[in-house]
Amino acid sequence: MIPDVDNDSIVYLNGQYVRLGDAKISVLDRGFIFGDGIYDVVPAYKGKPFRMEGHLARLERSLAAIGIVSDMTRDGWRTLVLDMIARSGLGDCMVYIQVTRGVAKRDHGFPKNIEPTVFCMVSPFERPDADKREKGLSAVGIPDIRWLHCEIKSVSLLGNVLAKQRATEAGVDDVLQFRDGFLSEGSSCNIWVVRDGVLLAPPRDNLILEGIRYGLMEEMAAEAGVGFEARAISEAEVDTADEIMLTSATKEVLPITHYNGKPVGNGVPGPVYVALRAGYDKAIAEL
Ligand code: PDD
Repeated sequence: MIPDVDNDSIVYLNGQYVRLGDAKISVLDRGFIFGDGIYDVVPAYKGKPFRMEGHLARLERSLAAIGIVSDMTRDGWRTLVLDMIARSGLGDCMVYIQVTRGVAKRDHGFPKNIEPTVFCMVSPFERPDADKREKGLSAVGIPDIRWLHCEIKSVSLLGNVLAKQRATEAGVDDVLQFRDGFLSEGSSCNIWVVRDGVLLAPPRDNLILEGIRYGLMEEMAAEAGVGFEARAISEAEVDTADEIMLTSATKEVLPITHYNGKPVGNGVPGPVYVALRAGYDKAIAEL
């Protein structure tokens, strides 16, 4: 029995549908041995996936980036996601897809004639509650110790895991990571800064995972008449930001109202957050 999950829920593993509690992979799976794999997380509301095509395009980019060749087509991925949501019977849920290079004798080089391991599960989506939306979250700044291909949604997440643990140990919700003095991202989310009414984001490059909400925030800012700029953001600019927020599939968009023990702006969610949050809620309602 795996605690805190529905062991009876049905997962997909290499073409088979099995109970989560019974699903097994080989100890020689390269995902287990080397972290040699990628994943994606697609949110769904009332049984309908949100921005699925963006997630599937990113899944395909991640696979291509690490040279995993899967015979799944875009149609195949789409059918899998829709089928898994339907089988789960859940309304608001998270579809997790993971692909590893597969099972082989332990050897760092890519094995020949290897079948990727494909896994998919659906879990209930505990959406951010009113308290988080209205009071906001807390964060501390830490150095970004991760590798130089953060644009790949790799399952090698040790750097992110250690970052989240830093937050837990500091008694805050998340971290803001800085590489060479410039903002990269949170432990598992993108970070946004507002200065003088303009929404700022770190550039889309190899130092961050471009969230599916990245483009959406840009669209919503335009709709709300908020200026947007993607550029390097220094630690000093974060320290004196008017607003800070984060986005991810699981956190949606949330304000960070306390940073390094101090209030951000007035210590309450700011007007740009309120406008973008309304845009996000509208996008969900229009699904
Ligand atoms: N994380 N940056 C990192 C490092 C992430 O892990 C994530 C998402 C994001 C935001 O991406 P998106 O908006 O597409 O969710 C940014 C997922 C939710 C996870 O690891 O569970």
